[in-house]
Formats: sequence, C-alpha cells, structure tokens
Amino acid sequence: MAQDNTPVMGPEEGLTRRMFLKVTVGAAAVGALASTAAATFLSLAPYKKPGIKLKEAPFLYTADDTAIKLKVWYASKVGQEAVVSDFTEAGMGAQATWNGFPAVLIRIDPRKSLNLGGAASTVNDQGFTFPVVPNAPGVEQNIVALWGTCPHACCRPNWRVSRPEVQNLIWCICHDSRYDPHAIVTDNYKGKRYRGAMWQGGPAKRALPQIPIKIVDGRIIGAPEKPDWYVYCGVDVE
Ligand code: FES
Repeated sequence: MAQDNTPVMGPEEGLTRRMFLKVTVGAAAVGALASTAAATFLSLAPYKKPGIKLKEAPFLYTADDTAIKLKVWYASKVGQEAVVSDFTEAGMGAQATWNGFPAVLIRIDPRKSLNLGGAASTVNDQGFTFPVVPNAPGVEQNIVALWGTCPHACCRPNWRVSRPEVQNLIWCICHDSRYDPHAIVTDNYKGKRYRGAMWQGGPAKRALPQIPIKIVDGRIIGAPEKPDWYVYCGVDVE
C-alpha cells in the first residue's frame, strides 16, 4: 500500500503525516491514557483549509465522541450558536467551531486571572518571556475563546473533556501540552506577535492563540484581529 507522506506544516515543518502518526501513536502507547487517546486523536489529524477568509462569525457548538460520552452540558446544543447566557457558571467551557475551524469557549473565573497578576509570565521557544495581560482585549463578560489547534503538532486541545480531572487548564491529549485561559499573554511565533492562552507545559512552548470576541445581543461573536495568528498546521487564512 502506498505510504502517505503528505507534509504536515507548522511548528514541526517537514514532519510527514506518516511520521506524525508514528509520533502521536507512540506517545499515546506509552501513556496511561493510551486506549482512549488513540481512538480520539486519529480523528483529529492535521488538515488543510487553504485560502479561507476569516470573518466576524458566531461560534457553533460541537461535541466529539468523548464529550458525548461524558454527557457534556452542550451535547444537546450541537450546531446551535453559543450565547453568553448558556455559560451560567465560571468554569463552564465548550467545544465549538468558528469560521469552520475548531475553537474552545470558556467562561473563566476572573479571580484566577487576578491571582496571576503581573507576576506570571510565559516563555516561548526562543526563550523570551512575555507578561500576562489579565484584562486582555477580546475577552468579554469573562468569556475567552481560543483557536482549537495545538501549536505543537496540530491536535485539538480541550477544556475538561479529554482529561476532565484537569480543571483549570486547556489540555491537549496528544503530547500533554497545557494552556491557561485565565492568562491571556502576548507571545511570538516566527517573529509575529499574537495573544493567546499562556503555555503552561508540554512540548508546544507557546500560547494557544486567542480568538477575540465581542458580545452582540447576547451572542458570542468571534472578531478576527490578525489572521496570521492562526497560520500554522497547514491552515492558510486571510
Ligand atoms: S499536538 Fe502535541 S501537545 Fe498538542
């Protein structure tokens, strides 16, 4: 059978799809979560969507198999627009799509952001640190929206789904990268600055990009600031 060596672009440019699968399958095999991980992330393999023009758009709920099994609160709302009134408590989060791409919505607890204050910082893969921005632009009514593609090798990080016991961090099932939505920081990728949820550990080594939002009549609307925040993992948007 022919081997699929389609290039997977992004932080690990040059990694082929075959290599990607080897790496991710291997990582899952050694982890305690192997049995659930393998089935999940093979459906989350990198993809390409060239030339999409990002526009202001609502978020639509979605739910993967794991989320459905967990009976997440938004399972009955799949396909519907996300509205602020759905997020009745701090800590509620949901899988969503925005402009057709994966996204994560979370209502944060602002006290956790304030606790981070100016003391926290993040470090990117060039070793630069960046200050935390507790009251970041693009966060409204404590709702934070993030781009749902991991900067490490393109899997889909989740909030309280892949590892529900991880309560205060976004977690990526593939290689254990973690991001803190309570700390929106300025980070840097290939010389371009962007804002995102602070990297907290794992191999990604940079923030998960933010999707700035505004609230319009209770609807949560993603308003792109700079499309190049999302140009990695083969995504080509403008
Ligand atoms: S893809 Fe490797 S940690 Fe997310």
